[in-house]
Order: sequence, then structure tokens, then C-alpha cells
Amino acid sequence: MDLKELESVARSLVAQGKGILAADESSPTIEKRFRGIDLPSTEENRRAYRELLFTTPGISEFISGVILFDETIRQKARDGTPLPALLSRAGIIPGIKVDTGAKPLAGFPGEKITEGLSGLRERLSGYRELGARFAKWRAVIAIGDGIPTPFCLKANAHALARYAALCQEAGLVPIVEPEVLMDGPHTVERCEEVTTAALSLVFSGLLEHRVALEGTLLKPNMVLSGKECPVQAGVGAVAEATVRTLRRVVPSAVPGIVFLSGGQTPEQATGHLSAMNALGGHPWELSFSYGRALQDPVLKAWKGSPANAAAAQRVFYHRSKCNGAARFGRYTKEMEATAA
Ligand code: 13P
Repeated sequence: MDLKELESVARSLVAQGKGILAADESSPTIEKRFRGIDLPSTEENRRAYRELLFTTPGISEFISGVILFDETIRQKARDGTPLPALLSRAGIIPGIKVDTGAKPLAGFPGEKITEGLSGLRERLSGYRELGARFAKWRAVIAIGDGIPTPFCLKANAHALARYAALCQEAGLVPIVEPEVLMDGPHTVERCEEVTTAALSLVFSGLLEHRVALEGTLLKPNMVLSGKECPVQAGVGAVAEATVRTLRRVVPSAVPGIVFLSGGQTPEQATGHLSAMNALGGHPWELSFSYGRALQDPVLKAWKGSPANAAAAQRVFYHRSKCNGAARFGRYTKEMEATAA
């Protein structure tokens, strides 16, 4: 492991004004997204869609890295260029999702454990050969009656730490993603409590497993009210609660925190990030690694038709630019009105 290289990749991923595009939807997830625009999920449609995103003119101003799915990292652009090479040439770092999904945790109804550790060492070296320089593993924590249990948090933190150590051994920056879901009627206070517990176990796990935090990125949820909670915390309250939680549990050796969007609207995800950066004085970069919040409007503009490709790329450029502004705490609602 070359820590200097890991550190340099981690820092490039959270470079000023830039963030990550999560385009690593698994086959069932991309099928669900395509269903929303009445498009069959064929291999060619998936390839064409990812090529549209990655070839958006000027996108490397705001996008530092892209998380790919196993199928995508092996696909080629129409001109024959492998998609990871296409990204690298544009100055965008290719990454790869390496977990194999969250499965029911045996004996713990309603809870999940993320799988994918077996054979991971070999898969990681294969992905590095294909051009990946960072990886992602997502753990899923649900809030409900009596859950999460301390055991579920511990089991997921352990898997994340095993994954992160193997990534660093293979020369890949691990993005460690413990996602506390926003589904349910829970309050913002409950989300803060669960997020604090989940993150503190994740960081003790990483230290136990001798993971170098300088070459690691954290991908957490924001501290939000549950979707069905009758009282919804406003932008300022979310920003304060999220930053307070992170300051309590995330060591300053971590170069950057790249939020997931988790079901927030694109404008909410951008607004929250901007409000946090406007608070200023953070020991880490606060950035984005959005899937839906960057892509939902693009899919709606594209609808699977080549005739809409340029318009869809303009939508992607606009959302990325808004999130780029949020990196400096400078996003405003007016920016939406000036969309192409
Ligand atoms: P969302 O931003 O849609 O939550 O996706 C991010 C991601 O990569 C989840 O693993």
C-alpha cells in the first residue's frame, strides 16, 4: 500500500468545487430508474445512458470521480474507448462499487447486513487493473421500533472495516458508506442519535483494522427528519445537526466527507450541502457523492431518446454546477431559475 498515493487520490476526489457522481446502480436498481421513464433496461440502454453522463461537455469542472457498477467498468463508448479510460482522459477518477448488496441479517428481523467480502481481495485487484482508483461499500441501517440493534450496527461496521483494509492493501481509496435511511416517521433527533452510534462504531472498526484514515473517505447520510415525520427539520437545522454529529465522531485525519442524497429532492440535497459549507471552519472537506440527486432530472429529460441527449447533458451540467457552488456555500435558489 502506498499511503501517499491513496491520500492524493482521496484529496483529488474532494478537490475544491467538485464532487462525485454515483452511477453505480446495480441491475435491479437501474431497472427501477429506467421504469420511471418507461425504458427497458437492456445492456445497450444502460451503456448509452452512462456514456451520455460521462461525455457531458465541461462536466469535469464539477465532477472529480464517478462510481461505476461491475458491468459499466467493462463497457465501451461508441468509439470503442473503455468507459474508465474515457473518464480518466477527461480528468475524472473512475471508482467501483464492490459490495454485493444488503441482505436480511439472519436472526434480526427488519435489519440488513451488506455482503461481498468473500473473494474481495481478488476482485479488487481486477478492478484496479481495469482502471479503478477508489471503491464503495454501502451498509444500510433502518430506523424503526427497536431497531437498529447494537449488533446490526456492529456487524455492518465490521464488514465496512474489513472492506476498507482490503481496499487500501489493493491501492484503492475506500469510500465507507453507512447509510441511515430516511424512511419512517422518526424525528431528526432520533436520526442524530442513530447516525452518531453508527459512525462511532465505524471509526473504531476502521482503527482496529489499521485502516489509514488519511486515505479514506466517509459517505454518510445527512441528519434529517424521517420522511413520514409530521415535523420536518428546516435547512438550517439539518445543516447544524449534521455538522454537530460529524464533529463529534469523524476524526480530522479523514480528508473528506461525501454525502449520499438518500431520497432527498435534488434541490434539497444541494441546499443542505451548501448550508453546511456556509457554516465554515470544518476540519474536512464537505462534498457530495450523489446518485438520484444528480441523475433523476437527467433521466426525465433524456427519456431514452437520442434526440434528447444534448438537453439531458445540459440538465446534468446544471445540477453538477449547482452542487459545485454548494461546495463553497454559494448555492442559491436563483441558480435554478437560470437553468439551461
Ligand atoms: P443516492 O445519492 O441516490 O442516495 O445514491 C448514492 C449512493 O451511491 C448510494 O449507495
